[in-house]
Amino acid sequence: MHLHPPPDSILFLGHFHPLLVHLPIGMITALAAMEIAARFARFKNAAASAGLILALAAPLAVLTAACGWLLSLAGGYDEDLLAWHKWLGTGTALAAVMTGLLFWRGNVAAYRTSLFGTVILVTAAGHLGGSLTHGSNYLTEYAPAPLKKLFGLPSAAPGAGPVVAPADWRRQPVFAGVIGPIFKNKCTACHGPEKSKGGLRLDSYAAMMKGGEDGLVVSPGNDAQSPLLQRPLLPVDADDHMPPVGKPQLTAGELAVLKWWIAAGAPETNSLASLQPPPEILAALAAR
Ligand code: HEC
Repeated sequence: MHLHPPPDSILFLGHFHPLLVHLPIGMITALAAMEIAARFARFKNAAASAGLILALAAPLAVLTAACGWLLSLAGGYDEDLLAWHKWLGTGTALAAVMTGLLFWRGNVAAYRTSLFGTVILVTAAGHLGGSLTHGSNYLTEYAPAPLKKLFGLPSAAPGAGPVVAPADWRRQPVFAGVIGPIFKNKCTACHGPEKSKGGLRLDSYAAMMKGGEDGLVVSPGNDAQSPLLQRPLLPVDADDHMPPVGKPQLTAGELAVLKWWIAAGAPETNSLASLQPPPEILAALAAR
């Protein structure tokens, strides 16, 4: 699907979503904690400012959800995850407003129920929001091995590059062993299963070969005609530069490897050894 990017003004407001979102989350969870604390004699006044907190949190939740809708127009997110996140986020905003109204009407029991309902919604919405931005394995990627086992998670950190001994990557298929791991570290957070910015995925050879919204990104044997290399080679402040400013950049060694690989015909399964890279490429790979 080719999405036309929405106007800058929409994206400008949309980009406030990740900033604003922390305010209602913090206020709502803090208020719930205060209400629990207020049940103990020692903290009986803990929730005295509930009205003020709600008067801030409810409008902020609505504003945050509105900016989130604008941000979603930018596209490039996993559609199912995005749909869930949108509705849970909208639900959170509505629940926050309802909590405020119930408090204001002095309906204490209903107010408390609604407050804790809002906490559940905001937790679910926040979790999905985190998965959308960072990938669903972000939280657990570097968890200690026993913890991963406990929750049935894959044991190797997927972002940690090839888990093969240096002697072995020369015999691995070049894409899986050398090129894929570079993308995994620097590109697939935006060009992967959860987000495919510019319609491009770099998490497999086949997906890479399909290209993005602007067409093919690799022209085997012709590195000058391959946006996959040319975009990272642009000056960092150029609009089309990849990865975008502020994100981890490709190193000179990685750029050299990518250039060599495309010039060699961008093969998938040939082993590195069989492609006989020149010494400077081997040195760049060994330096990883
Ligand atoms: C922080 C997010 C992010 C990261 C990381 C990132 N990109 Fe992108 N990329 C984008 C966005 C957004 C677009 C679409 C806008 C554009 O074309 O500039 C895009 C578009 C592209 C395109 C053009 C696709 C098309 O057909 O329109 C290429 C090629 C590309 N990226 C390569 C890369 C490479 C290679 C890396 C890793 C070295 C990378 N990107 C890392 C966000 C990212």
